[in-house]
Amino acid sequence: MAIANQQSGPKPAKEWELLCGVNELKSGEATRLEIGDLKLSASKINESVYVVSDMCTHANYSLSDGPLHPENLTIECWKHGAQFCLSTGAALTLPATRALDTFPTEVHGENVYIHLPKKEKQ
Ligand code: FES
Repeated sequence: MAIANQQSGPKPAKEWELLCGVNELKSGEATRLEIGDLKLSASKINESVYVVSDMCTHANYSLSDGPLHPENLTIECWKHGAQFCLSTGAALTLPATRALDTFPTEVHGENVYIHLPKKEKQ
């Protein structure tokens, strides 16, 4: 799923949660963040914020420690070099074969909001 970045306007509806301040993200670098038990990797590229799950699907290493490739919207796992699309989460190169989870974001004022999947009642 593509990650939207919409600026201005009022704070989004309740299902959006505050992720971080825009200034907490450095352009062209991935930042590891957590919401509850979710480990996330957030990347600011130009004026857009991309959020994917932080754990590489090959062997659970943090993707936020790896290089970001803003020119082709990919993040690379530092451990074995798998590359993932920041927009769709797709695993683009081996050894990873499973996609990352992606999370839509919106920027409102100085804050980045994230849309998290609804929790199922048990
Ligand atoms: S742990 Fe990421 S490619 Fe192996």
